[in-house]
Amino acid sequence: MVKFVLVLKSSPRENGNSNTLAERVEAGAKEAGAVVESLMLHHMNIRPCDACDVCLDTGVCIIQDDMQQIYPLIEKANVIVIAGPVYWFTISAQAKLCIDRWYALPDGKLRDKQIGIVLTYGDTDLYTSGGINAIHTFESMFRYVGAEITGMVYGSAWEIGDAEKQPELMQRAYQLGQKLGIDQTTPG
Ligand SMILES: Cc1cc2nc3c(=O)[nH]c(=O)nc-3n(C[C@H](O)[C@H](O)[C@H](O)COP(=O)(O)O)c2cc1C
Repeated sequence: MVKFVLVLKSSPRENGNSNTLAERVEAGAKEAGAVVESLMLHHMNIRPCDACDVCLDTGVCIIQDDMQQIYPLIEKANVIVIAGPVYWFTISAQAKLCIDRWYALPDGKLRDKQIGIVLTYGDTDLYTSGGINAIHTFESMFRYVGAEITGMVYGSAWEIGDAEKQPELMQRAYQLGQKLGIDQTTPG
């Protein structure tokens, strides 16, 4: 089975650090044989969940915006990679807007999907940066929906280009992509 990997990039910076690492994840996944589709959430029209709860009866979100093109990709994906910066000690608003709208996905739609996390932050470590809060949110969220976090890559990088200067971090991102992209159903 060829895996379909959906990469949701939540930085507004095209050449930002989390995008640079996400691109290494994509390269690793492609090398492992997966098909990859990547979206820049910042460029998309994604409105906040308005808690109308219509989706609880219908399984369909009534807000007509770019989430309508993302929902089928989420359903199709074997693997979802969420990449982005730490903003104000947690995940970025761009990521949160998209994730809140997953409320409309019927029960079980995210179950057993593999998840990859890519995070960058300006401070020196996971704790002072608040990256730990982002990770805690991801862990709670994916435990709740029954999806498996297969791997995470995170590191300190502030200016555009900082991630690229860290070969070991770049290599870890590539290896995460290989791990996510490989088809475990094929013997050998
Ligand atoms: C609005 C804003 C808030 C930020 N908040 C934090 C923060 O709480 N902790 C931190 O370590 N870095 C913070 N940063 C720095 C970014 O996390 C860091 O530059 C990151 O590498 C940006 O990712 P990107 O290059 O993919 O856009 C912030 C940056 C911005 C623009």
